[in-house]
Amino acid sequence: MTNKFHTIRPVPNALLPQLYIETYGCQMNVNDSEVVVSVMQDAGYSLCQEMDKADVILVNTCSIRDNAEQRILGRLDLFRLQKKKKPALKVGVLGCMAGRLEKELLNHVAVDLVVGTDAYRQLPKLLEAVSQGNKQIETRFNPQENYADISPVRMDTNGVSAFVSITRGCNNACAYCVVPFVRGQERSRDPQSIEREVIELVANGYKEVCLLGQNVDSYLWADSHDPTKYLNFAQLLELVALIDPKLRVRFLTSHPKDMSSGVLYTMAMYPNICNHIHLPVQSGSNQILKKMNRKYTREEYLERIKTIREILPDCAVSGDFIAGFCDETPQDHANTLSLMNQVKFDQAFMFQYSERPGTKAAKMYQDNVPEEVKTQRLNEIIALQNQISLESNRRDIGKTFEVLIEGPSKRSPLEYFGRSPQNKVCVFPKENSKVGDYVQVTIHNCSSATLIGAITEDLPAAGLGSRIRSHISKLAHPIQP
Ligand code: SAH
Ligand code: SF4
Ligand code: F3S
Repeated sequence: MTNKFHTIRPVPNALLPQLYIETYGCQMNVNDSEVVVSVMQDAGYSLCQEMDKADVILVNTCSIRDNAEQRILGRLDLFRLQKKKKPALKVGVLGCMAGRLEKELLNHVAVDLVVGTDAYRQLPKLLEAVSQGNKQIETRFNPQENYADISPVRMDTNGVSAFVSITRGCNNACAYCVVPFVRGQERSRDPQSIEREVIELVANGYKEVCLLGQNVDSYLWADSHDPTKYLNFAQLLELVALIDPKLRVRFLTSHPKDMSSGVLYTMAMYPNICNHIHLPVQSGSNQILKKMNRKYTREEYLERIKTIREILPDCAVSGDFIAGFCDETPQDHANTLSLMNQVKFDQAFMFQYSERPGTKAAKMYQDNVPEEVKTQRLNEIIALQNQISLESNRRDIGKTFEVLIEGPSKRSPLEYFGRSPQNKVCVFPKENSKVGDYVQVTIHNCSSATLIGAITEDLPAAGLGSRIRSHISKLAHPIQP
């Protein structure tokens, strides 16, 4: 493998063939598109922002819910019209839908190329074959592939915050979920390449990294030559936190069954690891959790939350919810609402159950909650969460947070937005600050989605934050070096 950590931003060149890329789905796909642009740039393509200029259109797709797929299929119709205007245009479908729909996509009139999540290195070669007049498809999984040696080209970057993938695929089998089918088995990326990528980001002025995996807690790398040398997620987190104390470190997504107290102690030890955990619960009912194959109970989940709050008293917790899973009764739904009231999530992502072909739920259970009931339950979950988020934000009024400035606010050109360590969006007047600065912001108002405040003080020794952790010194750090 070559180590080619070089260009971190796109290098536009109007003389080269033009690539236009659209990305749907989660952060993992955003990061994959950055890998794709790196591969394509190396092969002599230049990234363009307008579809009309493109010689090649790539669409990186998501299969998580039916409406995600429908939206992308709608885009393919638009690309078909684009091809009428420019017959030499090539259109490729990448990502999770490629793995799920394969031939069905290839048969679409707009599509020349279908490439699964493990085959992006082959894109230039496959496009070459398309130029000879043959449609191409490559959707096989490659359990060794993690693109460790490819430096992602950061496209829509604010120059402040970047995603770094640490695992690919998923070895869990949540009954509703298509991800294991479209992204293959889980594999952990070697820590040296993660460290190198983060060092490169720091050298390029980045102030925050978010380590990505479907289940970051199951990160486990072992040296193939010496199995006694291994690294778990808590240790990786420590390694990344030590790279630069001014670099903020975040991570996504934690799984309640795997999240270790070691991770929590590591967070407590390093002030630059942000105090936020995304810990999807999906349901508050034991019957439904069992059916979903989540492998934890409501009680175990609540116990995890208790431990988080003991070790990290000012840590924010966010969650995901699915409304209307198979056989969900009014009582199961009521249990979800009561769990929300107990945990008081700071933020949540809430979805209506969408049956995905091929999953355990599609094969074994009936999608028997009527759509209008799903919608009604989802609306109740959303209304309750809005209220809880508003209460959580109101509790922050009068407090001061260290905020990393990410860009201009949507509200006013005179204001910036950034996030607190707890991942809450803060909006405040710019004053003399600039994007990428750490500032202390005191909150004086809020909505359910945003904290509104003003800079109280610049923080020259940026990134070290104001978290007081004297109690932590009393706790033994359980991770062996
Ligand atoms: N790996 C992560 C999340 C993956 S998908 C985890 O385990 O939490 C992100 C979210 O989409 C999930 O947490 C779940 O809430 C939602 N989701 C996944 N499959 C879904 C489906 N079939 N219908 C509705 N929501 C779904
Ligand atoms: Fe899907 Fe479960 Fe894996 Fe998350 S942990 S990606 S929900 S199978
Ligand atoms: Fe992500 Fe959607 Fe694939 S949520 S992993 S892009 S199915």
